[in-house]
Amino acid sequence: MAAGKGLKFGTRAVHAGEEPDFAATGDVVTPIHMSATFARSDAEKPTKGLEYSRTGNPTRLALEKRLASLENAKHALAFSSGMAAETTLLLSVLKSGDHVVAGNDLYGGTVRLFESTLKRFGVTASYVDTTRLSDVEEALRKDTKLLWVESPSNPLMSICDIRAVARMGQASGAMTVVDNTFASPFLQNPLDLGATVVVHSTTKYIGGHSDVVGGAMMTSDRKVHDAVRFNQNALGAVPSPFDCFLTLRGSKTLAVRMERHCENAAAVAEFLERSPKFSRVNYPGLRSHPQFELARRQMRMPGGMLSAEMKGGMRAAKDLLRKLRVFATAESLGGVESLVEHPASMTHASISKEMRERNGLTDGLVRFSVGIEDSEDLVADLRSALG
Ligand SMILES: Cc1ncc(COP(=O)(O)O)c(C=O)c1O
Repeated sequence: MAAGKGLKFGTRAVHAGEEPDFAATGDVVTPIHMSATFARSDAEKPTKGLEYSRTGNPTRLALEKRLASLENAKHALAFSSGMAAETTLLLSVLKSGDHVVAGNDLYGGTVRLFESTLKRFGVTASYVDTTRLSDVEEALRKDTKLLWVESPSNPLMSICDIRAVARMGQASGAMTVVDNTFASPFLQNPLDLGATVVVHSTTKYIGGHSDVVGGAMMTSDRKVHDAVRFNQNALGAVPSPFDCFLTLRGSKTLAVRMERHCENAAAVAEFLERSPKFSRVNYPGLRSHPQFELARRQMRMPGGMLSAEMKGGMRAAKDLLRKLRVFATAESLGGVESLVEHPASMTHASISKEMRERNGLTDGLVRFSVGIEDSEDLVADLRSALG
C-alpha cells in the first residue's frame, strides 16, 4: 500500500515509510537492519544508495519517511536524541556572530545548549515572551538568523501564534524553528503555518512508550535539509537501527494515543482547577487559559501536558510528588504512563533561579504528563495524594 499524500493522519502513522518490499520478503514491518556497512557489486555503485550505517540505514530511512509524512514535510532526518537534532541543526545553519530570538519558556536543555555551548562559538540568544508579538518584533535584529519557538511551551503551556511569528521571521530574514515535541504532529503541523523547520524529541509522544531516546528534524527547504544531512554524517549523531524500529513501532499508534492523552489531561486539568490547593492551572483546553482561543484555532486538540502551581510552594509540590502512586515522579513526557515532575529542581534546574522566576516558573510549579490510563484512576490518585 502506498501511504502517500491524500491519506489521513492515522493511516499515514501506520503505513508511511513501510511499504512491503515484494522484491525481498514482503515483510509488513520494516526489519531491524543491523548491518554497519553494505556490500556493492560494483565499487562505484552503492547498493540502493546505501554505503555505511552512519550515512544511511534502511530502518532509519523508513522512519525518516514516516516522520516527513507526519509533519507534511518533504524531508526528515532521524537523530540519536532530540538534543542531537537541535545541535546538528544549529551548527548547520548558524555561524559565529549570529543572533537567535528564542521563547523565554523553553526546555531547559535547549537553553543550556544556547547559553553554555553555542555562546562559546559566538552565537548569542535573546529570550522573549513569544505570546507577545510586539516583544518578538522588537527583539529581531539585523543579525538575527533564527527564531526558536515552543508551543505549547515547557513548562508553562503558553501558546504562541506560530503563523504570525513565522511571518515576522520571514519579513526580517530569520528562519523559524518550532520544537513541536509537546504537541506532536497529530495536534499541529508548524510547517503548514509557515515555519521552516520542525524539531522533535521523538523520545516523547512519537515514540510514546518511554523506551527509546531519539530526535528528528523535518523541513521542506531542500537547502536546509542538505546542510543538516551533511552535518549529520559529519558529526555522527545517528540513532541505532533498533532505536529506529522502536520509534517506528511507537509512531503507529500516535493518533489513538493522542486522543486518549488529551481526554485524560482535560479530566485532570478540570479536577486541579477545582482544587483549593492550586493557584493556577496551565492547560490550553481550559477557558481560563490566556490563549484558549488561539489554541483552539492552531491545535487539533489541547494536548496531554499541563502544569499547575501549588499555593504551598516547593514544600507542597514535593509532598504531592511523594504521595502520588499512579503518576511516577520522573523527567520526560509523552509516554503511555502518567508522569509528574518538579521543573525548578528537575527539568529546568539548569536555568538560573533568577531567569526562572523572571519567566514565571516558580518553585511551586508541578508539571504533569498525563498518560493513557483510565482517567478515573488518575483523578483518584491526585485526590488521595492531595488529602
Ligand atoms: C520540548 C523538548 N525538546 C527537546 C528535548 C530534548 O530531547 P531528548 O531528551 O530526546 O534529547 C526535550 C527533552 O525533554 C523536550 O522536552
